[in-house]
Amino acid sequence: MRVMLAAILLVLIGFVIVAVGYAAEQAALRQEAQSARQISQNFARTLKSQLVAAIKAEGPEGAIPVCQYIAPAIAKQYSADGIQIGRTALKLRNPANAPDAWERSVLEGFSTAMKKGADPQTLERFAFFPNQGGGKTFRYMKAIPVGQTCLACHGSNLSPAVKQALAEKYPDDQAVGFAPGELHGAFTISRKML
Ligand code: HEC
Repeated sequence: MRVMLAAILLVLIGFVIVAVGYAAEQAALRQEAQSARQISQNFARTLKSQLVAAIKAEGPEGAIPVCQYIAPAIAKQYSADGIQIGRTALKLRNPANAPDAWERSVLEGFSTAMKKGADPQTLERFAFFPNQGGGKTFRYMKAIPVGQTCLACHGSNLSPAVKQALAEKYPDDQAVGFAPGELHGAFTISRKML
């Protein structure tokens, strides 16, 4: 009888330990997601304001380098904290931004959700992934909807100057023909943790 009770007690303690571990993991995940959400909002805001200013000053063809160089510049600011940030999409302009397997499946999920009427502003996904050598990596993705500012370089009606500038730099450009409100791509953030 005693042995039985001790065994039950051990099993219960085991459950409690697992539950506490799970709750701690969920709390850490929520915290990481909150900071990633903030980073992607800052990224979007900085990018948009710089694009609008550059288009105003030099026209869309003159603003092309902003979209090209702003992402690496912002990424550099965050890399000190071990954070990697970039942009990806299913229809790409720069092949260097191609999604990996997880990113592709998340982008496809976003696109399916939008077909069912989801608001792209609310679409995000995040999770921990185990690292090969131990520890884990936090990954976060946030959908990027197409806005009016984007159309001069990603819409269906590009000016000849923009067309030419893009053709020179991006001969395999797929990122045109977007309409406002569609899914363009996603911000993608990852942070290696201990
Ligand atoms: C002035 C032209 C211009 C405007 C306006 C512009 N983009 Fe881009 N976009 C580019 C260029 C050029 C690239 C390729 C950047 C690179 O080489 O990494 C790009 C790349 C991207 C990418 C990365 C994926 C890929 O295809 O390489 C995303 C996502 C993106 N743009 C979204 C947007 C959104 C959303 C807007 C509107 C807020 C926008 N862009 C406005 C020129 C522009």
